[in-house]
Amino acid sequence: MMIGAKKNILDAIGGTPIIKLNKVANEVKSEIYVKLEFMNPGGSSKDRIGGFIMDRAVSAGKLKPGGTIIEGTSGNTGVGLAMWAAVNGYKCIFVMADKQSIEKVNNLKAFGAKVVVCPTDVEPEDPRSYYSVSKRLAETIPNSYYVNQYDNLWNRETHVATTGPEIFEQTKGDFDVYMAGVGTGGTITGVSTYLKTKMPHLKTVGVDVEGSIVAQFARTGDLSGARSYVIEGIGEDFIPENYDFKVIDDWVVVGDKESFLMTRALLKQEGIYTGGSGGAAVVGAIKYAKTLVEPKKILVILPDSGNRYASKIFNDEWMMSKGYIASSFNVIIKDLLAELGKNNNEVISITDHANIGDAVKLMEQKNVSQLPVIADGIIKGVLSENALLKPLFNGEYHLSDSVSLAYSNKYREVDINDLLSNVADSLLKKEVVLVKENGKLVNLLSNIDILNYIAKSENI
Ligand SMILES: Cc1ncc(COP(=O)(O)O)c(C=O)c1O
Repeated sequence: MMIGAKKNILDAIGGTPIIKLNKVANEVKSEIYVKLEFMNPGGSSKDRIGGFIMDRAVSAGKLKPGGTIIEGTSGNTGVGLAMWAAVNGYKCIFVMADKQSIEKVNNLKAFGAKVVVCPTDVEPEDPRSYYSVSKRLAETIPNSYYVNQYDNLWNRETHVATTGPEIFEQTKGDFDVYMAGVGTGGTITGVSTYLKTKMPHLKTVGVDVEGSIVAQFARTGDLSGARSYVIEGIGEDFIPENYDFKVIDDWVVVGDKESFLMTRALLKQEGIYTGGSGGAAVVGAIKYAKTLVEPKKILVILPDSGNRYASKIFNDEWMMSKGYIASSFNVIIKDLLAELGKNNNEVISITDHANIGDAVKLMEQKNVSQLPVIADGIIKGVLSENALLKPLFNGEYHLSDSVSLAYSNKYREVDINDLLSNVADSLLKKEVVLVKENGKLVNLLSNIDILNYIAKSENI
């Protein structure tokens, strides 16, 4: 072995740094520190449980060499298990809910794992749920092991044995509050179980998401009323066995939107690229800090990496489509036309019997650059200045040619009372949008109108 090298990738798990937040939490006096679990080699805290659980499963004779690991996973546990399987020569089948991001699915497939996608919004007992499908696969595939991170207590043991001692060694216990988002409950329970043996005054606070029932159950014993939410990895609609509520002292509940905005702020202001559950945990820490009389030192776990969410949280179009960030496209077309002073426009059009020379003259006279082409009251297409220039210049078209040669059918129709976002994709592709009111053509929108509208809104 070369000096300074690790014997394999699994030996690189753990030893993740703890960093002080310097900007996003300035509204509170408490100091907030984050532990970057996404710096594990597979990109999340779940690397820790993958190897730890599988080493014990093999030692306990639960599966033999070459066997199949089966797990219901939101993605991260799958990567932890797949990494262990690659090093040790096992196969993997992962069962995922359909709300998980495509990056996670592709990542697992890249490891050579089989991925089965199941519907998100069904009860855990439903035969289509990812819990039921995972169990069924494990029962029917020989020499297989269903990890079940929810109820397998080796999950929380991992954090008693690794994450907890690592945090104590790094900090010497120099903090007052430990906080983590809660999913299976393994991280919050395992780390807290260990730390409380060393730090009797430590307060452990769980961060749950609106729509989940974990915090509500801990406070009132009520398991009802689960609703769907968007954050991946945290929140549950049942209570997994890994929870030990005796080591969790308090709870905060956070929403999707504030968590995603914080996830983006962590990257833009602190340079920290974590996922939505990391943003949620920091929002939770700030909320909790606001309830404190004395400022404290708060340590927060950031479970996974932002690059798993490039198509969602870090994609402006996705954020706008969900209403998490403002969009110039969230305006009713009628209001946009009024704003632009285009609300009582007479639409200048031309018939399909006209020739290109007539069209050019009309465009010049009326000072328009686009002409809908109408035949017998029906829209046939749109003739645009841009599409005429080059073919006229190089002699491909002549002024005496029919407009039928030159009009394009790349246009969209939309009702004046619809949102602009309905035709955003067409406008971004530079297609003309024809606006109708009660079925009658009343206006025409093109990219320059949108640019003018954005310019006007930004001046307000
Ligand atoms: C992204 C992410 N954050 C947080 C968690 C929660 O950790 P735990 O399951 O240990 O409660 C998970 C678990 O699946 C996760 O994938």
